[in-house]
Amino acid sequence: MALVTGASRRVGRAIALDLARCGHDLAVHFRSSADAAEEVAALCAPSGVRAVPIPADLTRPEDVAGLFQRIDDEFGRLDVLVNNAAVFRRTPAWDLDLEDLDLHLATNLKAPYLCSVLAARRMRDRGGGCIVNIADVAADRPFRDHVPYCISKAALVMMTRAMAKAYAPVIRVNAVSPGTVLFRPDEDHDLRRRVTARIPRGRIGSPEDVARAVRFLVESPHVTGAVIPVDGGRSLA
Ligand SMILES: NC(=O)c1ccc[n+]([C@@H]2O[C@H](COP(=O)([O-])OP(=O)(O)OC[C@H]3O[C@@H](n4cnc5c(N)ncnc54)[C@H](OP(=O)(O)O)[C@@H]3O)[C@@H](O)[C@H]2O)c1
Repeated sequence: MALVTGASRRVGRAIALDLARCGHDLAVHFRSSADAAEEVAALCAPSGVRAVPIPADLTRPEDVAGLFQRIDDEFGRLDVLVNNAAVFRRTPAWDLDLEDLDLHLATNLKAPYLCSVLAARRMRDRGGGCIVNIADVAADRPFRDHVPYCISKAALVMMTRAMAKAYAPVIRVNAVSPGTVLFRPDEDHDLRRRVTARIPRGRIGSPEDVARAVRFLVESPHVTGAVIPVDGGRSLA
């Protein structure tokens, strides 16, 4: 049984649907996109798995506790956690403030940290499990107008390695580090062209590319502490 955070839309949706196709029952976590989460759960049905949408604001520890309580009640086990939910706000250098940093750390670091801790205890009690964090190439190659986001993803990569060591041998902890796989509606044609021009493979990736790497990590019993770039070679350029 797998929990995917932020599973209602975009990359999280692709990861959830792919895990469902591989036979995993699913907790389809969402915060505000309830209808989209229902749709993901409905799309899982033909795979013959059980998929339950569960809401939580992951910056609220009491919500996170409630999410795991629901998983205990609905499924009674947890084998896979994918920490996908995140914020990505543009934060120009001269406007930086503590609020930006707090928001990015709360969502992109503290929430995956707390989810991992709560998941790991459950996995340990059942003899094993696997955690996959969704990082970003920006953890190593910072984006100019996204300082708090880059800091949060760099910390998430270190969390991956530190927890892989701490929770071994019982629980495996890995990360996928995507380059651009989906543009945002406010990203204009010129920006899209410039981003694409920096990718050696000549195109952006897709949410399914990320899902495939997550599946590889879930299904690879001897891989732990790995951070897999899924970026068309962007991190080489
Ligand atoms: N998109 C890309 O090209 C790209 C590139 C590199 C890395 N990544 C990483 O890949 C992951 C998915 O990317 P994405 O673009 O699909 O993400 P996204 O659309 O920006 O966000 C994914 C989900 O996170 C949830 N979320 C945000 N804040 C939350 C909170 N406080 N509590 C609970 N849920 C919260 C939202 O759920 P609701 O909609 O339900 O509110 C949202 O649907 C992220 O970790 C991102 O950093 C993405």
